Amino acid sequence: VTNPRPPQIDISSRTPPYPKLLKRLAEVRRVLGSSRALTLAEKILYSHLDNPEESLLTNTQNGANIRGVANLKLKPDRVAMQDASAQMALLQFMSCGMSTTAVPASVHCDHMIVGEKGADTDLPNSIAGNKEVFDFLESAAKKYGIEFWPPGAGIIHQSVLENYSAPGLMMLGTDSHTPNAGGLGAIAIGVGGADAVDALVDAPWELKAPKILGVRLEGQLSGWTSPKDVIMYLAGKLTVRGGTGFIIEYHGPGVDTLSCTGMATACNMGAEVGATTSLFPFSPGHISYLEATHRGPIAKQAAEIASYESSRNLLRPDPDAEYDQLITINLSELEPHINGPFTPDLSTPLSKFKDTVAINNWPETFGAGLIGSCTNSSYEDMTRAEHLVKQAQAAGLSPKADFFITPGSEQIRATLERDETLSTFSSAGGTVLANACGPCIGQWKRNDGVEKGTDNAIFTSYNRNFPGRNDGNRKTMNFLASPEIVTAMSYSGSTTFNPMTDSIPTSNGQEFRFNPPSGYELPSAGFADGNPLFQPTPGVPDPTVDVAVSPTSDRLALLEPFAPYPTGQEFSDLRVLYKVKGQCTTDTISAAGPWLKYKGHLPNISENTLIGAVNAATGETNTAYDTDGTTSGIPELAKRWKDQGREWIVVAEHNYGEGSAREHAALQPRYLGGRIILAKSFARIHETNLKKQGVIPLTFANEADYDKIDACDELSTRGLWETLESGGKGSVELVVKKKDGSEVVVQTKHTLSADQCGFIIAGSALNLLARQAQE
Ligand code: F3S
Repeated sequence: VTNPRPPQIDISSRTPPYPKLLKRLAEVRRVLGSSRALTLAEKILYSHLDNPEESLLTNTQNGANIRGVANLKLKPDRVAMQDASAQMALLQFMSCGMSTTAVPASVHCDHMIVGEKGADTDLPNSIAGNKEVFDFLESAAKKYGIEFWPPGAGIIHQSVLENYSAPGLMMLGTDSHTPNAGGLGAIAIGVGGADAVDALVDAPWELKAPKILGVRLEGQLSGWTSPKDVIMYLAGKLTVRGGTGFIIEYHGPGVDTLSCTGMATACNMGAEVGATTSLFPFSPGHISYLEATHRGPIAKQAAEIASYESSRNLLRPDPDAEYDQLITINLSELEPHINGPFTPDLSTPLSKFKDTVAINNWPETFGAGLIGSCTNSSYEDMTRAEHLVKQAQAAGLSPKADFFITPGSEQIRATLERDETLSTFSSAGGTVLANACGPCIGQWKRNDGVEKGTDNAIFTSYNRNFPGRNDGNRKTMNFLASPEIVTAMSYSGSTTFNPMTDSIPTSNGQEFRFNPPSGYELPSAGFADGNPLFQPTPGVPDPTVDVAVSPTSDRLALLEPFAPYPTGQEFSDLRVLYKVKGQCTTDTISAAGPWLKYKGHLPNISENTLIGAVNAATGETNTAYDTDGTTSGIPELAKRWKDQGREWIVVAEHNYGEGSAREHAALQPRYLGGRIILAKSFARIHETNLKKQGVIPLTFANEADYDKIDACDELSTRGLWETLESGGKGSVELVVKKKDGSEVVVQTKHTLSADQCGFIIAGSALNLLARQAQE
């Protein structure tokens, strides 16, 4: 079904810049030699390089060794932001003084909406509770020409798939499941707000060239197995770290048998194995999905490009492309999988799950089945689930577990309502929640009497199952499965039920067995547009709009630029605020949970700085000692020193800042007066984030020197200015003055590039971008 685009939407801003990309790809071929075979991911990424020659030939043995080595400077086509992370991204963008964004962008209000009683009650309550933040996001979006999707419009990744993703596009999104858009052939990467700002102001965004993990699909899915099972199986094979530094590129004959939304599900959960992103080549599923979502002209252009030069075109891998690692999956032999609890890589084939439950002593019953979310709320997912509900209803059965349905967008919700799928779910006792994240991100107000701290199980078709993620109860075991498996199992309420082989007794004494689910890839009557109130605002800047930030707000605060580095000088008296022992993740540095509320208020969220850090001298957590021996929490001491004009340093062990791309973990120390983090080693993304905020990450040249420094020692730098001024050439030594007056000299190493030295000198990357934007 081809739906024409509603007239108010400008499709040209949603079409990848194909002529430019094709020209760039030709340049890449010239630089690397025309015989060099490229994977699809390489083609799309490299055709978004700011300067292909510079990125591909520097440090790469003349282009022979790009993957895992080259530093790519990229110009993405688009940015998408969800409401929680958009706050800091937009506050940073506003500091640059630009009148509009350099690339099209969108904001999606989805994370701050509770799931409890159903959409009609939950949505207005959540809007009222977060009004200030939504007003800020809406006014900033209007001012700068960003499309604003209001609360209730849908979950970022579903809205992106329906509206913005397209074959060959490159986009950044401020959410880790941004790779969902790879289901429609885009390179879509999850980043922090400061990285999104790079794209918004047209500065090149840097990425270490990923390696490519090829997943060859053969055969065809059938019966109970769904696209979700591809990635569930893969997660078990790769583990949560196996995709780190890789792009997962699906290919092979099995690709053409999958729906576009099914491919998106597989890409969505690539985040669970740590992959930079995942993507699929142009396929028939893309054409029908683009046409059904009002984007026939994009499908036409992409199909033309995909037919050029057999397979050496932009939208498919070269036939002789080589992968750094290759996994083959036969879809015909794939079984449904159940992953969890507590980690998405604990993968069990359905046929073995009953035994696994017994071996691990997991609960034999479960209280709730939740389907939908950004991962699994397509028309195909929901109509397959509906088919199972209808079978059970005909046998007179009702779900034994509470049953919740989260549509991913207003478009999908309205279509399912029109086609009576939602009324089927409701008549079975299901609760239809708002088109938002809700229970997937801890916004689940659970009313079934399960007390916090009680062991219990739930089944969801979501993507993550870390402790506490859904209902705030760290003891809730979330087993991930496809919507079909979750739905069928909800009718038995038993974790050991296998819907493929087991039956459920009915009230008339008969045994009911499900037939395998079947559904529809796309709605035969086309997608419904839904409530016009949930349409986005157009992406046209309006300079007359005032951005709504109340000076008395405790949730939002405008950012003040950080002071530039004092030209020609060294630090002479940085004091050691804290010496951290052991693991120090971004959660340790900037805790989540209740603190999420303050993501747009740097002074308030800074009250959590390092509160999870263990004191190396005493073993205490969040207990800092001032020079006179008085104790306080770490943020309190940092604030006291800030008020006294005393800047400081943190000393730490290995992999400082591991975990996530959370930029607050770099912003907060900088805001409170932190200038250097001296560690045995850093997590790569956090090390970059520190430099972007003007904090200097140094590592010990000799790890044993960690033992020579204590809290409240005072440090001076030698060689720092020279290093910064020379663009990273040079080294820094620290002269440590101990409390007894003695001195120790510590040699350090750094990874500062010329660009990053520029950030430090300017005070932050943002200061530099702002200056460049003004010029
Ligand atoms: Fe939202 Fe959960 Fe997806 S938080 S974006 S529905 S992973």
